Amino acid sequence: MSSSDQIESLLKEGRVFEPNPDFAAQAHVKSAAEREELTRAAREDPEKFWAGIAGDLHWFEPWSEVLEWKVPFAKWFVGGKTNIAYNCIDRHCESWRRNKAAIIWEGEPGDSRVLTFADLQREVSKCANVLKGMGVEKGDRVGVYMPMIPELAITILACARIGATHSVVFGGFSSDALRDRMNDAEAKVVVTADGGFRRGGVVDLKVNVDKAIDECPTVESVLVVRRTDSKVAWKEGRDVWWHDRMAEADDVCPAEPLDAEHPLFILYTSGTTGKPKGVVHTTGGYMVHTYATSRWVFDLKDEDTYFCSADIGWVTGHSYLVYGILANGATSVMYEGAPNYPEPDRFWQIIDKYGVSIFYTAPTAIRSFIKWGSEWPRKYRLDRLRLLGTVGEPINPEAWMWYHREIGHERCPIVDTWWQTETGGILVTPFPGATPTKPGSATLPIPGLEMEVVDKDGNKVGANQGGFLVIRRPWPGMMRTIYKDPERFKQQYWSQVEGSYFTGDGARQDEDGYFWIMGRVDDVMNVSGHRLGTMEVESALVGHEAVAEAAVVGRPDEVTGQAIEAFVSLEGHHQASDELAEELRKHVAKEIGSFAKPAKIRFADALPKTRSGKIMRRLLRDIASGKETVGDTTTLEDLSVLAKLRDDEE
Ligand code: WT7
Repeated sequence: MSSSDQIESLLKEGRVFEPNPDFAAQAHVKSAAEREELTRAAREDPEKFWAGIAGDLHWFEPWSEVLEWKVPFAKWFVGGKTNIAYNCIDRHCESWRRNKAAIIWEGEPGDSRVLTFADLQREVSKCANVLKGMGVEKGDRVGVYMPMIPELAITILACARIGATHSVVFGGFSSDALRDRMNDAEAKVVVTADGGFRRGGVVDLKVNVDKAIDECPTVESVLVVRRTDSKVAWKEGRDVWWHDRMAEADDVCPAEPLDAEHPLFILYTSGTTGKPKGVVHTTGGYMVHTYATSRWVFDLKDEDTYFCSADIGWVTGHSYLVYGILANGATSVMYEGAPNYPEPDRFWQIIDKYGVSIFYTAPTAIRSFIKWGSEWPRKYRLDRLRLLGTVGEPINPEAWMWYHREIGHERCPIVDTWWQTETGGILVTPFPGATPTKPGSATLPIPGLEMEVVDKDGNKVGANQGGFLVIRRPWPGMMRTIYKDPERFKQQYWSQVEGSYFTGDGARQDEDGYFWIMGRVDDVMNVSGHRLGTMEVESALVGHEAVAEAAVVGRPDEVTGQAIEAFVSLEGHHQASDELAEELRKHVAKEIGSFAKPAKIRFADALPKTRSGKIMRRLLRDIASGKETVGDTTTLEDLSVLAKLRDDEE
């Protein structure tokens, strides 16, 4: 691990923030002692502990066994029958919450909509009937490629209602990326929109779908929401308008009792190879995990207005904009557009307008807010805020302090939550009324989670020593497999340290047992809080006719955490030029999406390789971040390559 300098800088962080007593007094978990008691109970009898929480929710049929564990395949609530859409909607429609706001939606142009739980029940039921009418059956996969509009939440809940497995592809992905995911998932139907609003412009989602679906033999039909009124191409017999079908649809569709292990969704995430992994999450365990963590971590109350700024195209939006939040009967604010449109104050304006009390965002966003200036939040009433959260990457103490001061007005606790697409829900986090926080640390594992920092042989390392972050036992929300590839699941996550889940993150635990995440130890970059495999970008680059070889690394970036730099050597007859660099950046955007565009392309005659032919990424990382190369270069095949790469730098 080459994170020694990071460890040192983090060690200097000595500030501790005790929970605010007023907050603690009203919190679900009121003290460190209460949290410890939960942790003790969970350690003593994890199955009883999780079963107790599951009992808050509705089950059509009870489970016979809480956990069946055959490493690395877990089944939770075996034999139980439930429905997560029922628990997010119908359960509340039976109570006074029937006419409470479930989703408050703000469109980028300034339009808005409020859907109560009863509205959601009607819309989701109609959509479920529309999908059924299109031939979607329990177990079928439905692709979702949509802007952040209420219809997106409605669609995934409709899938969950009838037992169709949704696979949401973030609207920033290119048509090629969409095609590959839809083919892997073998989707039967794709739900999209004519377009989406972003920074005042229109994202042509339907154009991308048309391009992708031409090469997706399993997709029979496309359901299209009208959002931007853009002119779209239309394929009769395949494309249908959402509003046409919804107008005719029956608004009653009972939620299907589903096996606890019925696959709820597939979400693709980057790994170290070029091929994205279809992370599979199932129904019961995921529901219990996201429900419990939403309550502990966000301290959700019926009076709260909760705003998560993540897109539903990422796991954060699945777990903590839709499922976990609605399962608690809380009100979720959903915003369609960019944080800086029309002005860099949009989030603060939304928080003021709706009286948001809990705000969950990412460090990369916070660093942008800092750059845009404190004058923007200062214009708004943020006094209803009572709790702040972050996720996606380590938060640097400076950003933490700004968030604490300028947004939390030194009153709101901050929950820095560590988790992954694979973990389904939050795993390391403060409880806001119970856990003293240290800026930059996600603090402690949730009750029932056995997490350790180990060396490469799987032995636990001492306090403040860096190592690999692993988990020793299954937890309810964990991924169940990689879609259609259980072998890869085993190999990627459960073989590095025998019998333990390998997170791929480096970490250390301090003398208080707090976890400090040091970043990825594999060839995966974290750009704006989202993982991107270096291999994915490299495959895109070498797919261009001018490129012979490419190596991609992440370098530190003030705003996005990491920025992508690509080292490229060209095929004989091609010449390096700024135009070609631009063309290659565009090529990556086309292949993956513009968020994957390298910040910089460096042309090289050759890439530094070991004698065995492995590209020495560590050296490239040093060059990209402008560091002197330290460490061993004896295995480098041709030292002059390195000197050359440096010389090219002005
Ligand atoms: C990776 C997971 C979970 C939703 C967003 C990202 C990094 C995430 C933290 C945090 C330090 C964090 C890790 C992790 N990460 N949260 N609070 N502190 N690092 O999901 O794309 O699956 O990425 O993000 O490196 O492994 P993802």
